[in-house]
Amino acid sequence: MFVLLGFALCIVRIVLSLPLNSPLLPSYDYIIVGGGPAGLTIANRLSEDPEVNVLLLEAGPADHGESTIALPGMIGDEIGSRYDWNLSTTAQTYLNGEPRTISQGHGLGGGTLINGMLWNRGGVGDYEAWVQLGNEGWSWDDLLPYFRKSETYTPVSTEELAMQFSIEADADVHGYDGPVKVSFPHFMWNSSAVLFEALNELGVTTAYDPNAGLIAGASFLPLNLDPALQTRSTARTAYYDPVLGRANLWVSTGQYATRILFDGRDGAIDVTASQSQDSNSHG
Ligand SMILES: Cc1cc2nc3c(=O)[nH]c(=O)nc-3n(C[C@H](O)[C@H](O)[C@H](O)COP(=O)(O)OP(=O)(O)OC[C@H]3O[C@@H](n4cnc5c(N)ncnc54)[C@H](O)[C@@H]3O)c2cc1C
Ligand SMILES: *[C@@H]1O[C@H](CO)[C@@H](O)[C@H](O)[C@H]1NC(C)=O
Ligand SMILES: *[C@@H]1O[C@H](CO)[C@@H](O)[C@H](O)[C@H]1NC(C)=O
Repeated sequence: MFVLLGFALCIVRIVLSLPLNSPLLPSYDYIIVGGGPAGLTIANRLSEDPEVNVLLLEAGPADHGESTIALPGMIGDEIGSRYDWNLSTTAQTYLNGEPRTISQGHGLGGGTLINGMLWNRGGVGDYEAWVQLGNEGWSWDDLLPYFRKSETYTPVSTEELAMQFSIEADADVHGYDGPVKVSFPHFMWNSSAVLFEALNELGVTTAYDPNAGLIAGASFLPLNLDPALQTRSTARTAYYDPVLGRANLWVSTGQYATRILFDGRDGAIDVTASQSQDSNSHG
């Protein structure tokens, strides 16, 4: 009897797995606004708990695997497209009195759909400055486990290429089991190698791992790139596509949030206070 029930639940679970833009429920335990790497990571992690329902709202569209997004050789082609908010500055006195565009990702994956694919961390000192500003728990040492957790790092394929392009990898600072695929392109411009020689001549340090916390100098950065397919690894392919089958995760595109109400009231309130009044809410 129990075995049969278990089997039935299992079938229900499979049937209930939710494609993109499934009809919405009247309410959710968690609603996340914005489907960039931050929002998609949170949606992925929260929905690991099958007891809670999670909704992610993204203003932009989902991509269709266009080569302009997928291929590193086409970086920049989707700037100013429907995957870009097309923001711009006010006219800048010191830039010919002209405004300048500011690209921001608009779609499932956020900036990772249109960005330069350079996979780089800040330097130890950057995070130390955060701590000094009062943010305990945000030092390099605190963050390193999460940097590692995010990636599956594949080193450059041959020693020869590593030598030619000054690529150095510190195996200890990388992750080998995470959602974002990080690797090096199969095609590299010879002029890149010459550039490193020129920098060395000027006394600029090269050949160190740019993701090990010491970043002054010049280095060949790895990309968020699938090593086998040579296609862009986006926040969507890393954090959403692998959990499409979850019955408790709703993702809805073309949904522009204009206002946040907590318990029916406007957003500019003390959220902590509102939570203590409604202890059943997951916030
Ligand atoms: C052109 C470009 C090149 C870049 N190059 C690199 C690079 O080479 N290397 C690197 O490390 N970083 C690069 N970046 C930066 C990197 O992409 C961002 O730091 C990263 O995407 C930020 O992640 P996020 O989740 O905080 O925000 P975003 O990726 O910006 O995601 C926010 C999401 O929220 C959605 N959204 C916003 N408002 C609303 C709303 N009201 N309702 C619903 N949805 C909403 C947006 O549409 C977007 O999808 C680049 C960025 C750009 C734009
Ligand atoms: C950005 O501009 C392009 C070209 O005009 C347009 O197709 C696209 O819809 C715009 N993006 C948004 C979010 O409006
Ligand atoms: C690039 O350099 C390699 C190794 O020096 C050489 O074999 C190859 O022909 C070069 N390619 C081009 C396009 O110059």
